[in-house]
Amino acid sequence: MEPYFSARDGEMHVEGVPLSDIAVRFGTPVYVYSKAALTDAYRSLDAAFGAAPHLICYAMKANSNLAILNLFARLGAGFDIVSGGELARVIAAGGDPRKVVFSGVGKRPAEMREALDAGVLCFNVESESELDRLDAVAAAAGKIAPMSLRVNPDVDAGTHPYISTGLKGNKFGVPIEAALPLYRKAHAMAHIRIVGVDCHIGSQITEVAPLLEAMEKLLELADRLAVEGIHLSHIDAGGGLGIRYHRESPPPVADYIGAFTLAMRGRTESLLIEPGRLLVGNGGVLLTRVEHLKHTPAKNFAIVDAAMNDLLRPALYDAYQDIRPVTSEPSTAATYDVVGPVCESADFLGRERMLAIREGSLLAVMSAGAYGSVMSSNYNSRGRAAEVLVDGETTHLIARRESITELFARECIVE
Ligand code: LLP
Repeated sequence: MEPYFSARDGEMHVEGVPLSDIAVRFGTPVYVYSKAALTDAYRSLDAAFGAAPHLICYAMKANSNLAILNLFARLGAGFDIVSGGELARVIAAGGDPRKVVFSGVGKRPAEMREALDAGVLCFNVESESELDRLDAVAAAAGKIAPMSLRVNPDVDAGTHPYISTGLKGNKFGVPIEAALPLYRKAHAMAHIRIVGVDCHIGSQITEVAPLLEAMEKLLELADRLAVEGIHLSHIDAGGGLGIRYHRESPPPVADYIGAFTLAMRGRTESLLIEPGRLLVGNGGVLLTRVEHLKHTPAKNFAIVDAAMNDLLRPALYDAYQDIRPVTSEPSTAATYDVVGPVCESADFLGRERMLAIREGSLLAVMSAGAYGSVMSSNYNSRGRAAEVLVDGETTHLIARRESITELFARECIVE
């Protein structure tokens, strides 16, 4: 995460701004993103393709704040969306719907219609039933729907079971053996235009091999389709490129992309990818303040003002995210479980962390840019955290803290 989040004069800064200034100005908990980190992540990924025709469709489920979408849109990104809500965000953020791929196993007719009207690049179809529905929705709209089939290549991504999606037992995609007949069916449909093939085998993948294996299966399929006169415009290798949270050592981005572009050499299709975490994960931290230190015979607890409702990944996946004090404190280090105020034993941000802290200390939960704010909830009637984007010395509030009245604004009492 260095050099964007780095210690200077005994204090962690994000770009040119001390994190403690942000805590004072906007309160805690607060998500803090570095514009340079996000920009550089996008640019280095883009550059890794060299001259190969490609489109980066940012998997916006990872972080869908409008300011972040707008930043990526201005850098030239397309978007991978999974709902009508995400499509609306792309449009509100100034993104180009013609660079949007629409993924997800449960697209509703109204969502399909909105995407057709917006003119998305492609529907990533995940079942025969969805194909039938898409044809019918397009017919009713008097349009032709561009489609790609998400195939399940049955490749083990070697990642956490909850975020692994390319194995036979997963709900995602269609088995690769079933793809050919489905493409034939789609080819014969009056309101479907076949444009591609896609897969997504899982998230936080830290090896090239499974991604390449999946892609090779897609290419074989594309070749078989070509024999039947079905020609694809793009091959979509999905997302899943892993980042360093702790001890992982993912290959450099150039290795992933180099393997893809090598596999694509001499082919006519363009290459599409759907990265989420890679673009935003290490571009943000969750800043939180220690409320209480609690010492019990069994453990020491640092009770902080962020909780599982703000950052769910540790509770849900037992995910490890580094936790660093923002300023070096004179106190002696001890081992703490860093926990939130929510009434659940799973409400922890990190366990067994050696920290030199005291009550009032600020902590930065690192690598919180992806699947952080977007997975937050109002559990325990806690308003969602503010979000801030730092650009050099300038700090922009890009989502204000959710107020108490907003929490129950949708509700009413029955007489
Ligand atoms: N494309 C599709 C179809 C996906 O389902 C996903 C993520 C992506 C792309 C982007 O994957 P990425 O490049 O970010 O790995 N909440 C979990 C991750 C869930 C990922 C779901 N799908 C976490 O916090 O680790």
